[in-house]
Amino acid sequence: MKILSASDLSRDLRSRLKTRLKDHRVGLTVVRVGDDPASQVYVANKIRACAEVGLHGQEVHLPATTSSDVLKTALVNLNENPNVHGILLQLPLPAGLAKNVGLDATDWISPAKDADGLTSINQGRLHQGRPHDGPALAVRPCTPAGIIELLKFYEVPLRGVEVVIVGRSSIVGRPAAELFLREDATVTVAHSQSKDLAQICRRADVLVVAAGKMGLIGREHVKKGAVIVDVGIHRGPDGKLCGDVRQSEIADLASACTPVPGGVGPMTITMLLQNTVDLYFAAQSQRSTSPQGNRI
Ligand code: GUN
Repeated sequence: MKILSASDLSRDLRSRLKTRLKDHRVGLTVVRVGDDPASQVYVANKIRACAEVGLHGQEVHLPATTSSDVLKTALVNLNENPNVHGILLQLPLPAGLAKNVGLDATDWISPAKDADGLTSINQGRLHQGRPHDGPALAVRPCTPAGIIELLKFYEVPLRGVEVVIVGRSSIVGRPAAELFLREDATVTVAHSQSKDLAQICRRADVLVVAAGKMGLIGREHVKKGAVIVDVGIHRGPDGKLCGDVRQSEIADLASACTPVPGGVGPMTITMLLQNTVDLYFAAQSQRSTSPQGNRI
């Protein structure tokens, strides 16, 4: 089984971003609410990656007791801050906020600064099939974008193949289905209520597992020769990081699998950096072509 490490691709993409950023001051702000320990680590990794490519990354940390009004004001202020070109609201929100506002909170971010592609405008554009590199930028959510880029890097064929995605979240499963459709794959989205998950998964030439359940997928779910993308990340009972896939069980069955850590995780961060840089240059070119931008 080949290991689809993100190291080479990630290094290459980040080095290109560094070149694009020369002589530009581009800012990304990550807003974290509450004290979810995993989010704390993820956000620290994102800010560290910003520094690596020359982006100005900053974290805004709000207490778990933050009201929806305060969160909205914080995000609107960032929308209006000319030094901030990308904004990400780290999920999950604390339980109270999640219950009151849920994903509505992402819509307080301007679509033109939505580095995460989670606003309903950007998700709408995405599901209309609009290009992510055209004039009306449809920002791709970072994890699905990273998965597609990684599979393309390893020349995994996608046209006409059976892709099964386990998980239907707005961050991963749903946008991943759209991005695989664009590659002309035949896409099935399975989830916690799917009957006979193993049978559905065994159809897959490419199996993407984003269920958030440690070790959910094993030998019985994998067709011989399948390519496996493991989106999960968990701390196992032995203290080591592991994914949603029991990878040792499938080593002689799958043709390839993304590692945990070192696969989808670093690609997600790289795509966040790339989205921010793309948003910055899109805003710059809009400013230079719009009549207002030319006003003296
Ligand atoms: N929490 C875990 N992954 C993500 C992500 O990609 N975006 C946001 N906003 N929150 C997350």
